[in-house]
Amino acid sequence: MNLSGIDSALSNLRKLTEEFSQSLPFKGLWETIRHLSAPNFTWPELRIGNLVARIPIVQGGMGVGISLSGLAAAVAEAGGIGVIAANGIGLLEKDYYQDGRAANLRALRKEIRKAREKTEGVIGVNIMVALDDFHQLLDVTIEEKADIVFMGAGLPIKDLPVAKMRESGIKVAPIVSSARATDMIFRMWKKIYQDVPDAVVFEGPMAGGHLGFTEEQLEDPNFQLEHLVPQIVDALVPYEKEFGRSIPVIAGGGVYTGEDIHAVLSLGASAVQMATRFVATDECDADQKFKQAYVDCTKEQIGIIKSPVGMPGRAIRNEFIIDAENGKRPTFKCAWQCLASCKADDANYCISIALNNARRGNINHGFVFVGANAYRVNSIVPVASLMNELGEGYRVAARETIGQRLAGMVAKIQELLREQEGLGARVKEIALAYEKALTSHIRDLGRVPLEQLRLQYEAVLATLSDLQFQIAEAIADSWALVTQQRNMVKAV
Ligand SMILES: Cc1cc2nc3c(=O)[nH]c(=O)nc-3n(C[C@H](O)[C@H](O)[C@H](O)COP(=O)(O)O)c2cc1C
Repeated sequence: MNLSGIDSALSNLRKLTEEFSQSLPFKGLWETIRHLSAPNFTWPELRIGNLVARIPIVQGGMGVGISLSGLAAAVAEAGGIGVIAANGIGLLEKDYYQDGRAANLRALRKEIRKAREKTEGVIGVNIMVALDDFHQLLDVTIEEKADIVFMGAGLPIKDLPVAKMRESGIKVAPIVSSARATDMIFRMWKKIYQDVPDAVVFEGPMAGGHLGFTEEQLEDPNFQLEHLVPQIVDALVPYEKEFGRSIPVIAGGGVYTGEDIHAVLSLGASAVQMATRFVATDECDADQKFKQAYVDCTKEQIGIIKSPVGMPGRAIRNEFIIDAENGKRPTFKCAWQCLASCKADDANYCISIALNNARRGNINHGFVFVGANAYRVNSIVPVASLMNELGEGYRVAARETIGQRLAGMVAKIQELLREQEGLGARVKEIALAYEKALTSHIRDLGRVPLEQLRLQYEAVLATLSDLQFQIAEAIADSWALVTQQRNMVKAV
C-alpha cells in the first residue's frame, strides 16, 4: 500500500461515520469524532515506571570502551536510552594492569558523570553479572544515580542490593535469552526480595558480541525474536498483575531499520535494543578504524567465534581469530581474573586485551564484535541523523500497517452498512404488508396472518437495531485504532 492508503481509508471512514451517525440514534458519534485528524504515527514513548524515554530505542551496552559517555549521552540526548558498558571500562585508565578493579570503578564513575554533564536524557549502565567486580560496579552505578541498570551474561538473582536500588529510584532490567530464564529471574526475585525487575531486555540470536545461545540455536526459527518476544511478554503478565505495574520488554538483535522497529513493537515489545547501528556513528567512543571495519565488512566475513569466556560470539572473522582457532597464542599477561569463569591459562588470547586493541584501532591484534546485519552499514553518521532515519522508517511502516488494518475495517463497515440497507428495505416491505393486511383484515376478519406479520416486523427491527450497534462498534473500533496511535505518540 502506498502512503495515500491510510489517507483514503481515513477519508472513507470519515464519510461513513458522518453518514451513519446522521441516522438515529447515533448522532452523538459524529459529534465526538469529527474533530479527529490523520495521525502522525511518530514514536511511542518507552515508559519504565516513572522513567520515560521519548523514543523507544535502547542503545545496547558495548563493553571495553565502545559505548562510553560519548555515545550514551548522544543517544540519550536524541530521546533514547544511552548505555555505558561497565565491562573492561578500566582499560581506558593508565593503571589497569596494576589495579584493574580500582581502574574499572574509577572509569565507570567518571563516564557516568561525563554523560550527566552532557545530557539530561536517560542514562543506563550495562554490567555483566559474570564480572568479578559486578557488585562494586553496581554500587558505583547506584551512587552515581544512573537511571537504569542492565544486567546480562548471567542471572541477576543472588545478593542484589534491591532495597538500596529502590531507595535510589534506579530501574533494573535483566538481559535474557528465553521466556524460561525470564520466569526464573522473576520467580526468584519475588521469593527473595518480594519485588520484581522493572523491565526485561531480550537479546536475540542476531545480536553482536557474546550470545546467550548455542551455535545450533542461532539459526533456529524457534529462537528468533518473532517466536520468543510474544512468549516473554506472556511470561510477564502474571507478575504485572501481581505487582500492579507494566513490565516492558525491550527486544534486540538484528534490528536495523525503522521498519524493523515497528515489526518488533508489533510483536508486543515496548522498545528495541540496538547496538550495531550505533557503532557506525560519529559519537561512538571507538576508534575510527573500528567503525570503518563495519562499513568495510561483507556478509561472508561475519561469523561466530568461540570466545574464551565460554560463550559463542558474533564478530568479523579476521586473521587474529583464525590464528587463535588454529592454536596460535599471542603472549599476554592476565591483569587480573576480571571474569569469574575465564580460564586464562587455557585461553588462546585475553578477550579484554583483544577487544581493547580493536577499540583503539589496532584491529590486527584483536577483533571486532558485530551484529548479524553489520554488513549493511555503509556510512558513519551522527546519532541524531540515525535517529531521524529510524523515525522516518518507523512512521512509514506504522502508516502502512495501520492503513491496511483500517482499510480492512472500513470494508467490514461497508459490508455491514449494505446489510443494514437490505434489512431497512425488508422492514419497509413488512410494514407495507402489515398495512395491507390490516385493511383486508378489517374487511375480511380472520383470513390474514396479522399477528405473524407483527412478529416478523419486530424480529427484523430487532436484527436491524443489533446491526446498527455492530456498525457503531466497528466505527468506534476503527477510530480507536487511529486515536490509540496518536495517544501513544510523543515526537520524533
Ligand atoms: C561491539 C559490540 C559489543 C557488545 N558488547 C556487549 C557487552 O559488553 N555487554 C552486553 O550485554 N552486550 C554487548 N553487546 C550486545 C549489544 O548490547 C546488543 O544487545 C546487540 O548487539 C543488539 O543487536 P544489534 O547489534 O544487531 O543491534 C555488544 C554488541 C556489539 C556489536
